[in-house]
Amino acid sequence: MSIIDYFLNMSAISTQPKTSAVAQALQTLLADSYALLGQLHLAHWNVEGPNFFQLHTAFQTQYEELFTAIDDLAERLRALEVYAPGGLVTLAKMSSITEMASGPAPAKDFVAHLVDSYEIVIASSAALRAAAEAAGDLETQDVAIGRVQVHQKTLWMLKSFLKNL
Ligand SMILES: [Fe+2]
Repeated sequence: MSIIDYFLNMSAISTQPKTSAVAQALQTLLADSYALLGQLHLAHWNVEGPNFFQLHTAFQTQYEELFTAIDDLAERLRALEVYAPGGLVTLAKMSSITEMASGPAPAKDFVAHLVDSYEIVIASSAALRAAAEAAGDLETQDVAIGRVQVHQKTLWMLKSFLKNL
């Protein structure tokens, strides 16, 4: 193989098939992640009670991690030469995560709502993982696997908080 053939071959490897299924799954996960970010912010601001400090801090840790991850999802779309959806109205329409009322609620209600929201985001992450696997897009699959891992860990923590309450 000549050196030119080698580099042509390398570029073929680095440009995996970019199916619309992968892009669509990335966009859905981006929207669900943004919606979850909003709900984490709401819970961070409005949670009350004896567990205020630990929940307020935990929600901040989660939304800060998510903020960086959302940027990576959007930039993965751009790397696939697809435009990233943005803006609250656009993203809200694309997401199936529901919103809590902007008022007082028991702390466990915030956590239970976030458990539901995380389960949706995990499902979206798994759907992206499957779409990327089907398209042979290992790089996007890697991103999706990372999302599933992080969110499953957080889900375990939130569910543990709700035990025996
Ligand atoms: Fe804050």
